[in-house]
Amino acid sequence: MSTPRKLFVTTALPYANAGFHIGHIMEYIQADIWVRFQRMQGNEVHFVCADDAHGAPIMIAADKAGLTPQEFVARIAAGRKQPLDGFHIAFDNWHSTDGAENHELSKEIYRRLRDDAKLITTKTIEQFFDPVKNMFLADRYIKGECPKCGAKDQYGDSCEVCGAVYAPTELKNPYSALSGATPVMKSSEHYFFKLSDPKCVSFLREWAMADNRLQPEVSNKAKEWLEGDSGLGDWDISRDAPYFGIEIPDAPGKYFYVWLDAPIGYLASLKNYFAKTGRDYDAFMADASTEQYHFIGKDITYFHTLFWPAMLHFSGMKVPNNVYVHGFITVSGEKMSKSRGTGISPLRYLEVGMNPEWLRYYIAAKLSAKVEDVDFNPEDFMLRVNSDLVGKYVNIASRASGFIVKKFAGKVATEWAVTGDAFLDTLRGAAPEIRALYDQREFGKALRMTMELADHVNAYVDANKPWELAKDSAKEALLQEVCSRLLEAFRILTIYLKPVLPALAAQVEAQLNLKPLQWADIVTPLAHGHHINPYAHLMTRIEPTMLDALFEPAPAASEAPAAEAAVGIEELAPEIKIDDFSKIDLRIAKIVNCEHVDGSDKLLRLTLDVGEGRTRNVFSGIKSAYKPEDLIGKLTVMVANLAPRKMKFGISEGMVLAASAADEKADPGLYVLNPWPGAKPGMRVR
Ligand code: MSP
Ligand code: ZN
Repeated sequence: MSTPRKLFVTTALPYANAGFHIGHIMEYIQADIWVRFQRMQGNEVHFVCADDAHGAPIMIAADKAGLTPQEFVARIAAGRKQPLDGFHIAFDNWHSTDGAENHELSKEIYRRLRDDAKLITTKTIEQFFDPVKNMFLADRYIKGECPKCGAKDQYGDSCEVCGAVYAPTELKNPYSALSGATPVMKSSEHYFFKLSDPKCVSFLREWAMADNRLQPEVSNKAKEWLEGDSGLGDWDISRDAPYFGIEIPDAPGKYFYVWLDAPIGYLASLKNYFAKTGRDYDAFMADASTEQYHFIGKDITYFHTLFWPAMLHFSGMKVPNNVYVHGFITVSGEKMSKSRGTGISPLRYLEVGMNPEWLRYYIAAKLSAKVEDVDFNPEDFMLRVNSDLVGKYVNIASRASGFIVKKFAGKVATEWAVTGDAFLDTLRGAAPEIRALYDQREFGKALRMTMELADHVNAYVDANKPWELAKDSAKEALLQEVCSRLLEAFRILTIYLKPVLPALAAQVEAQLNLKPLQWADIVTPLAHGHHINPYAHLMTRIEPTMLDALFEPAPAASEAPAAEAAVGIEELAPEIKIDDFSKIDLRIAKIVNCEHVDGSDKLLRLTLDVGEGRTRNVFSGIKSAYKPEDLIGKLTVMVANLAPRKMKFGISEGMVLAASAADEKADPGLYVLNPWPGAKPGMRVR
């Protein structure tokens, strides 16, 4: 084998102001597949990400939530692990751009740009200033009347009513979106990175136009930016206090603009990871053979193909080998919206019990190396996964392994399988092409080829009919050979699918009694006499009801963990002993029915199944928060040993649990408890 490559791979750092949306997950799935593929080749891969913690929007959101920015981003960070693990995204490290490494690295890079490359300059600029909040206002925080059509409450850059584009200074009756105050013009000294310097332009031309580097669409864009009439302007890299960011050395009260320190966060996360695992960061980054790749979405191409390589090059650092740009994910053809109800919530997907590898497969099947948008279409998703994964792939194992286990004590017969078997050679022969497709991020094509091979295997099943061979005792040896050949074919297909379906591949490895499969294992068939384990179910089909659940308006419990606003904490009840608590019998209950109660504007009537072989009638004062149809079929938690209580509308046989704020003005909501997937009616909660 050739010498292993050394790869440093990242995805874009998500803003730490909300939980992941499906666009983030799509990006992570793409990069994760590529990383897993490279690892299967025996390459050394370090795959990291981090929260992008800085900037005015996060500072303002934290302030609104009554938290420090550090507390705010820590809450967001706490919600990252569950969805990442849930979708099998194998980052080696998750860090933050507010970490110590990033503060140090950002200052170091800045000093080198200033002192060695002489690419930092200052200019005084005039900007709107909020005299109440005492801060300069970015364009998005200034509103006013459109200078063209007079529409009220328009943003500082363009009018949503007539489409006019203008500078914030042109707005009539401008006001601060933060305080409502009339902004005043104020001047301030800003720091700039001199991108217009000829040496920058010529470096970037060379980097961006290099053969086989950027995707054709991306290099065309870069060319436009570099050669357009206006050329590259200098880049304003400073912001005035108050700002959540990194202080600029020797410039009191000035902070780096978030987009300066954000990509440096890639290096900071790697450095943090190397320190934690006893590796040598400096040596790794100084090694000319180390390759650096960034997976990003199309909207942030400018930052990654111009600013970032220039910052690295002129501070004497390694420049990226490439930036891999993907398009956006749409849902049924519609652009994703962050507001609730549209798009797909990654947490909701996991909560309703959908298999994460269905999504990995579907997204992979639609991805190419182009900057194309990818559409998630629920029907197409169900058809594709059910027909390819369940119908074509998993089926092979279920058809072959039963006979091997039952009739041949789990032993395969493969003395013929090593070379010269035409059927297996077709499967093995595809390896170089599939490998090249994965390496080029042509995942859709790689999976199409793999499914054609699965068709080939299923045709072999139909031609050889193992179930008929099994009826004829004279054909035992042939039956064993046919089933062994099928299992070997299944093993090869599993290798081709493993970058996309890592958990399924691990189940297959356990069933076939194999060590983790690597790409090089394609040519080493199951040994003659190798013993396999009984077949256990590998993957179920997608049911339409699951898709319904996925697209239902999400209940409060499954919202992305956006930083919760503080609602004021109620005083704690007096201390109790564990015996006091155990008097309360809490049970998982299934809401089998729910209806309005005639004559009550507070109550809903719930029919609960607590696994007792009968149902219970419970009235609950949650009408203001839920529609009956939102609750039917859901699990919740109830107090099951509460004495029955006679109410105006009937007898209530228990109580369901819901959370509410101490201060109803801070949050008037009611939040019914909902257990994690897997809980069953009747289980005790303790
Ligand atoms: N914080 C910056 C990136 C800094 S990188 C040094 C940022 N954050 S983001 O949260 O808005 O986006 C993170 C990534 O998600 C970006 O690569 C972005 O293109 C990607 N996506 C955002 N919406 C998307 C879709 N609808 N579909 C696919 N990817 C999308 O930008
Ligand atoms: Zn207008």
